[in-house]
Amino acid sequence: MSNNFVLVSRRRKHDRRRNLKKSTTTQGTSTQDCEIDPGLVCTLNKTLIEVRDTSFTKFLLNRLTESLTVLNCDGICEIICYGLGRFSQYRSSKYQLALLLYLKERYDARVYVYDPAFCSKETQILRTLHLEIVETNEEGKRIVKTQRDKTTLVYMPHCSRQLTNNFLYANWGSGLSNCILLTNSFSKIVDSCLHRDIANTAGYILRIQPYVTEIQLENSFVYEEVFNDLNVHIFTKEDLLKAPSDFWNFREEPRYLTDEVEFVAAAR
Ligand SMILES: C[S@@+](CC[C@H](N)C(=O)[O-])C[C@H]1O[C@@H](n2cnc3c(N)ncnc32)[C@H](O)[C@@H]1O
Repeated sequence: MSNNFVLVSRRRKHDRRRNLKKSTTTQGTSTQDCEIDPGLVCTLNKTLIEVRDTSFTKFLLNRLTESLTVLNCDGICEIICYGLGRFSQYRSSKYQLALLLYLKERYDARVYVYDPAFCSKETQILRTLHLEIVETNEEGKRIVKTQRDKTTLVYMPHCSRQLTNNFLYANWGSGLSNCILLTNSFSKIVDSCLHRDIANTAGYILRIQPYVTEIQLENSFVYEEVFNDLNVHIFTKEDLLKAPSDFWNFREEPRYLTDEVEFVAAAR
């Protein structure tokens, strides 16, 4: 397997920003109503077929197969997806959902989804598509259960680093070898931020960096902004064992000082 990763391309932010504008005004309001194209389920089925046949998806599947081999697993039993965004409104979210549906079908996995930006009709559609809606804002802190011979895929397309950081915090320890993360490139997050900022907002990403295998995905998808910056990340048992013995002991719950638009905290 190739451990080389290219630090990727310019990303088009405007689509994502629009997604966020909505999400920050609708946070936590999954019961809120919204206008939805009545043909959306049909469009999603067509989008799934479109995504399935792309070189990007084939490349991703190869990388997942290699990752499963390295992790000694023979499949993906569940997928946790945070931060898809408003798929009834935005192209990126719609294609990201199509990829999720394809992965569900390919691995026969249970899928759990959550985004505080979903409106009630989007939630309804996700249920129709046999996805399970996470009912509370877990802030990314879901603890992955160890499953014999199977792994969990964590899919967080273009999510904030706080969300990824929270996931690492919740699963801090050898349990990380039970999952594969399809998220924004860790190396890019670390390289693009001031050390002080990253220590405050993504300390766990910073600390796990020496022990993660980051597998680059070639962004060959027709719409550049949909899957750019996303890479596969795995943590092999061998690499995790290389960490010093006290490495896992410091495990303080992250607290984020600033109000970050990309991360919606649970109501307290
Ligand atoms: C930058 S947007 C990405 C949206 C979409 N995936 C894309 O690529 O355009 C980040 C998304 O994370 C969602 N988000 C924020 N806080 C979250 C949380 N606590 N749990 C799950 N999703 C969250 C936002 O609502 C938003 O949809």
